[in-house]
Amino acid sequence: MNPYKYAIDVQGLNKYFGDKHVVKDLSLQVSRGEIVGFLGPNGSGKTTAIRMLCGLLTPDSGTGHCLGYDIATQSDAIKREVGYMTQKFSYWEDLSIRENLDFVARVYELANRKHVVDEALETLGLTSRSSQLARSLSGGWKQRLALAACMLRHPRLLLLDEPTAGVDPSARRDFWEELHELAASGVSVLISTHYMDEAERCHKLAYIAYGNLLAQGSAKSIIQTQGLYTYEVRGENLMNISKFLAQNDAIEQTVIFGSTLHVSGKNPQAIETILEGHRYTAIPTSLEDVFIYLMKNSKDNFGDENV
Ligand SMILES: Nc1ncnc2c1ncn2[C@@H]1O[C@H](COP(=O)(O)OP(=O)(O)O)[C@@H](O)[C@H]1O
Ligand SMILES: [Mg+2]
Repeated sequence: MNPYKYAIDVQGLNKYFGDKHVVKDLSLQVSRGEIVGFLGPNGSGKTTAIRMLCGLLTPDSGTGHCLGYDIATQSDAIKREVGYMTQKFSYWEDLSIRENLDFVARVYELANRKHVVDEALETLGLTSRSSQLARSLSGGWKQRLALAACMLRHPRLLLLDEPTAGVDPSARRDFWEELHELAASGVSVLISTHYMDEAERCHKLAYIAYGNLLAQGSAKSIIQTQGLYTYEVRGENLMNISKFLAQNDAIEQTVIFGSTLHVSGKNPQAIETILEGHRYTAIPTSLEDVFIYLMKNSKDNFGDENV
C-alpha cells in the first residue's frame, strides 16, 4: 500500500476550458477517514475539480497527490484506486442489481467475483433485492447501487459528485450513515452536495464559487471566520422589509427563509439600531447565511463573466 498522510493533497490546480478559467488555484487537503463536503453554486467547477482529482482530467497547472500518487505522473494508479461516483451515475436498467455489480466487477477484472459482489450486496443492504431490475428501483436504491459499484474495489478514497441529488430524505440519511461507517474504517470522502443538512454532517467543508475556493474548514470555523451577526426579523410584508433594510450599509445581507427574514452584517450595534421598531431576535449565523454571503461577495470581487 502506498503510504500517504492525506488522501487528497493538491496545490494550485487550474483548469481552463478554452479561455474559460473554471478552476482557479485550487488547494485542498483531505485526511484519512475524513468526510469533506464540496459546496458551491452550479457551474463553479466542482465536477471539474473532482475529475482532476481522480485522474480523468489533466490540470493545466498545479501539483499534488491523491492516495500518495502524483496527480501529474501516476493518474493510472489514481484511477484504479479511487472510487468515483459521477454526478449522473449510470447503471444498466435491464440488468438486476447483482448483474450490474457483476458487470462492474468484470470491468475491473476482479478476482473472486462472486464473493466480492456478495460482500458488496451485504454491506449495503442490497442482498434481498439483488435480483430486482435496476430500472424498477427508487432513487435511493439506485444511488445505493451506484455506491456499491464504486465500493467493489474497496477504495480508500471516495469522490462522490452530488450522489444524493433528488434522493428522498430518509434514503439520504441512510446513505450518510453508510458514509460515516466507511469513514470510521479509514476511508476518506470528498462529496459535493447542495443540501445544508448534509454539509453539517461533514467533518470539513470546502466552498467554491466561480472557480475560487472561498472557504475551507469545519462548519464552525467557516461561520466564525466570516464574523457575521445575524438577526431573525418577523413581520407582515417581508419582501418590503427586506428591501427597506438592505438599503443600509451596515446590513450586508437580507435573505427570506420561509416566514422569517435573516438580516446579517458585521456590526451588531449598528444593525440593532436599524432594526429598532421591528420584531427581531439575534440568532446564530447559519452555514447557509454564510454561503450566500460568500457567493455574493465572490460575484462582487471576481465578477462572473469569466466562468
Ligand atoms: N468539457 C467541458 N468543456 C467546456 N466547458 C466545460 C466542460 N465541463 C464543464 N465546463 C464548464 O466549466 C464550468 C464548471 O463546470 P462544473 O465543473 O461542471 O461545475 P459544477 O460541478 O460546480 O456545477 C461551467 O461553466 C461549465 O459549463
Ligand atoms: Mg457538478
